[in-house]
Amino acid sequence: MTANRIYIFDFDSTFIQVESLDIIAEIGLSNLPDKNERLKTIADLTKSAMEGRLSYQESLQERVPLLNLSVTHIEQALSIIKQKITASFERNIDFFKKNADFIYIFSGGFIEIVWPCVQSFGIKRNHVFANRLLYDFEGNIIDYDRNNPLAQDQGKVKLAHQLKLKGDIIMIGDGYTDFEVKAAGIANTFVAFTENVKRDTVIEQADVIVDELEGLFLTCQIPYSNKATHKKALLLENIHPDVTHYFKNLGFEVENYRNALEGDALIEKMQGVNVLGIRSKTEITSHIIEQCPSLEAIGAFCIGTNQINLQTCSQKGIAAFNAPYSNTRSVVELALGEIILLVRQAAGQNNKLCKGQWDKSSQGAHEVRGKTLGIIGYGNIGSQLSILAESVGMRVLFYDLEDKLALGNAKACHTLEDLLNLSDVVSVHADGRKENKNLISAKEIAMMKDGVVFLNLARGSIVDIAALTEAVKSGKVAGVGIDVFPEEPHGSKAEFTTPLQQFENVFLTPHIGGSTEEAQQNIGEYVSKNLQAYICDGSSIGSVNFPQLNLPTMNHPQRIIHIHKNVPGILAKINSLFAQHECNIEGQFLKTNDDISYVITDINREIEPKMLEQLHAIKHTIRVRILSKAY
Ligand SMILES: NC(=O)c1ccc[n+]([C@@H]2O[C@H](COP(=O)([O-])OP(=O)(O)OC[C@H]3O[C@@H](n4cnc5c(N)ncnc54)[C@H](O)[C@@H]3O)[C@@H](O)[C@H]2O)c1
Repeated sequence: MTANRIYIFDFDSTFIQVESLDIIAEIGLSNLPDKNERLKTIADLTKSAMEGRLSYQESLQERVPLLNLSVTHIEQALSIIKQKITASFERNIDFFKKNADFIYIFSGGFIEIVWPCVQSFGIKRNHVFANRLLYDFEGNIIDYDRNNPLAQDQGKVKLAHQLKLKGDIIMIGDGYTDFEVKAAGIANTFVAFTENVKRDTVIEQADVIVDELEGLFLTCQIPYSNKATHKKALLLENIHPDVTHYFKNLGFEVENYRNALEGDALIEKMQGVNVLGIRSKTEITSHIIEQCPSLEAIGAFCIGTNQINLQTCSQKGIAAFNAPYSNTRSVVELALGEIILLVRQAAGQNNKLCKGQWDKSSQGAHEVRGKTLGIIGYGNIGSQLSILAESVGMRVLFYDLEDKLALGNAKACHTLEDLLNLSDVVSVHADGRKENKNLISAKEIAMMKDGVVFLNLARGSIVDIAALTEAVKSGKVAGVGIDVFPEEPHGSKAEFTTPLQQFENVFLTPHIGGSTEEAQQNIGEYVSKNLQAYICDGSSIGSVNFPQLNLPTMNHPQRIIHIHKNVPGILAKINSLFAQHECNIEGQFLKTNDDISYVITDINREIEPKMLEQLHAIKHTIRVRILSKAY
């Protein structure tokens, strides 16, 4: 940390997870008959002030008289609030202690709460500023000190002026009053801190957005660890914009392309790249991997990883990540929507009316309430559909090859036949393993109730479309929802035909069950977080080719990551090197899979180049990574 860099932290919803006034109000008002109305008014006033829609002074003036407080209430509130320190602050107490000379707290809250919470972080008492309550002799709160700059509009700005702070000032907070310090030209940087609360009006003003304290260390290049400084990310195939933002905040240089790249063009772009982000269209072959020695990790911002040669990735010590479950909810919502509309015959009515046919009839149209839904495959999607279907009044049966915990009131069937016999609606959510090819064919359809509604949003190969077509023609199946087909076109320009197009009460969708903006955003967040954990801390949770290790946050000067072929004796060789160089091992973690062994060692000092060379030279070594905690 440079001597003249000053960090001003906000307190409520930044240093702590909550707004302290909300907790104080909850306690102070607990016995009042109009508690709920008062609480709502207080919360609304806090929100308006934090979003910059109401001046801070007005908001405080209106909130304090509503509180009905005494000193006892404050003490009770404090004991609760002390338990609510923001998680990433708790993780980084050392940062505050070691940089106490440069850290300030500016809070619109009350000093009786703020100081006891920040004291144990080593923050200096004369660097902590907040409002002050005024009491009568019996300890009742009668007012607050209105002369305190923090009780006034632009309070943090006024305080900063009074303190005559000089240097590269960074203001970190979640509210509009924090941004004001930047707007007034005092802070050089406004960092919107979103670990506890995200306010759009504040984020819009931010120079940097961080969702945990480690993001601040990276963005401001505080030498906290060697996290992502000097790292490069290449993002292809129009990955969600949040991902670009995420990696930039981590200190990455990010290059972004709308389309997939291939061959030499891809190899050229990948030179010097540490993290590659792709979706399903970019083929990562052995040849490409071999030509890109800087590559450390690949994020597949999609479900599958068939497009990546995972074996070569493992051989080169490159971890690959994907997002297998981020679109579960999207599939479930589509399935439930289709079930309701198919049971109601609304899909058929819609198709008829689009052709000009006004067929107003209730025949064959039903409510789903009380009907039985049979779910084949009770995995992530099947089990979530079970919950939602029950919430609209359906009875749920399921059949799975594995023993699954029945959620809600759902009941497991012992055989597929039982499920097919008993269900008014059958929905397939099994996976696409090869044994499931034509799992539903003429024989299984014959076991279903007459007039059944049938859906497949899982994999096209699972259903024999010809048999299903015959069943719809004969009236055995009254409604069909199909999102996945045995053969699907590759591009959006190709024409697509299926015999199911001839029917009215059908929903045919082009494999979009999981395709929503929310799912894309979830995928972006999930994969980015796993990539960050891998690059910055070495955790390999979520990797599809590495042994999965969830590592503790680094608390020692260096973390040595040794990736080698899974052959006996390597750990002993690594440890004998540590002993030879008198490095004390503070923690060690090991996990293996069939191909590779992943050994992480935290040591008490930085290793010298000679030792690094020796680690590389151990036979069967694939890659060595060094992470340093340097502050
Ligand atoms: N339409 C889309 O856009 C879309 C999006 C995401 C997932 N999917 C597909 O949805 C399906 C379910 O996804 P998930 O995330 O819930 O998978 P999952 O792996 O969590 O669940 C699949 C379940 O099916 C069970 N199963 C497999 N074969 C079975 C069989 N013959 N009979 C009964 N149970 C069987 C498994 O034991 C498992 O519990 C997968 O095929 C997946 O590819 C489609």
